[in-house]
Amino acid sequence: MDKSHVIQMNGVHGNGVLTAGVRQVSVRGVLDPAKLKSRRQRSWGVRASEMSKNTLNPIRAIVDGMKLTPNPDKPMISLSIGDPTVFGNMPTDDKVLQAMKEAIDSQKYNGYAPSVGYQKSREAVANFYSRPGAPLEAKDVILTSGCSQAIELCINVLCNPGDNILVPCPGFSLYKTLAVSLGVQVKLYNLLPEKSWEVDLQHLESLIDSRTACLIVTNPSNPCGSVYSKEHLQNIISVASKHCIPILADEIYGDMVFPDCSFHPMAPLSSDVPILSCGGLAKRWLVPGWRMGWILIHDRNNVFGSEIREGLVKLSQRILGACTIVQGALESIFNNTPHEFYQSTVSFIKANSEICYSALSTVPGLTPVMPSGAMYLMVGIDMDNFPEFQNDVDFTERLVTEQSVFCLPATAFEYPDFFRVVVTVPEDMMMEACARIREFCARHYRPCSTDSNEIDQ
Ligand SMILES: Cc1ncc(COP(=O)(O)O)c(C=O)c1O
Repeated sequence: MDKSHVIQMNGVHGNGVLTAGVRQVSVRGVLDPAKLKSRRQRSWGVRASEMSKNTLNPIRAIVDGMKLTPNPDKPMISLSIGDPTVFGNMPTDDKVLQAMKEAIDSQKYNGYAPSVGYQKSREAVANFYSRPGAPLEAKDVILTSGCSQAIELCINVLCNPGDNILVPCPGFSLYKTLAVSLGVQVKLYNLLPEKSWEVDLQHLESLIDSRTACLIVTNPSNPCGSVYSKEHLQNIISVASKHCIPILADEIYGDMVFPDCSFHPMAPLSSDVPILSCGGLAKRWLVPGWRMGWILIHDRNNVFGSEIREGLVKLSQRILGACTIVQGALESIFNNTPHEFYQSTVSFIKANSEICYSALSTVPGLTPVMPSGAMYLMVGIDMDNFPEFQNDVDFTERLVTEQSVFCLPATAFEYPDFFRVVVTVPEDMMMEACARIREFCARHYRPCSTDSNEIDQ
């Protein structure tokens, strides 16, 4: 007879009889040599999951494949990283730091918060982002670990494998990284550089089919630095409305617009299209490492209803999202950050953009597009005039080798023959980088045959 041990689970006892919470463990069975042998026959074969294999960051894929060996005679200037803190010239405001210090010192935020965030912190976000025509309450806010997690939750709640999403081109690469790993297809809709990167609405509409689950709009834009007018946003919303497609509005650069321009959040412009607006502290408050983001749920006519809300809550429970200390600081950050801080950030970015734009627009072979916000500027490369280089990746790689200036090739944003400049670097670096880009282009520029005809005439 088997010797049986009764083990207790969940505090329930049994007497050799299998009752709830009780298991019998056969000692002889465990020691059975035949079974031991068959166990050993299973060899090690730990494989990475399909999902991990399908998770690809296009920026990493391109940058890791580049040979980035700077010229030893010139100090490296990296204009590639979308992190405004790297050069130390753009510290956050003292009030923001103060809010964090107080949150730590209070000892009130050391525990677990609800997965969607503390009620008080959600309320603070709701109050800060409520607008006429798009009011928010705490229940409409989900706090997340950065805007990245906000985007992830939104894609996960709206899409099933086999669905597709509409993504701007050029656009932020995370959308594709997240979608593809879920088995969701990405359809790229064109932005038009000659129209300050407005959406090609006809192209957008032509991509919609019965499996289109969501339209992503990035405004202001990474990588373009574009900011859409109210009218253009209304036109985008009309397309979504006609085909009943919810919008994911990535507004992480919301309000980071130059003084002569206005930022219009999408939600107040929509009467019938439900919108999930994603944002966070990273860019406007210059603290990307704090990992604080949010989803603002703007339902319309109960289209999202309880299902999407409950789905988002469930998804938020996979990890307990946002850092509690930052949650504790949120209300004070919103209430106490002085206006001058926001203003001086955008004035600096605008001034640097102007330096970069005016320097590069007189370089033969380059076509910069002046931004209106965010912290980026895109530059077109007339590849025909640079026959030595195959593409933007080749061009930017050699720019590092010769001039120690690194700009991200826009192939990383599915937009070849452009490169992206980050304009948060110190002003002297910006000028030095532009001078080196000019020197590089002068060295490699070759007039096309038609250009030389013109010159001959
Ligand atoms: C357009 C866009 N959305 C979202 C994010 C992610 O923001 P976070 O750092 O808060 O995750 C970024 C970061 O660069 C971005 O450029």
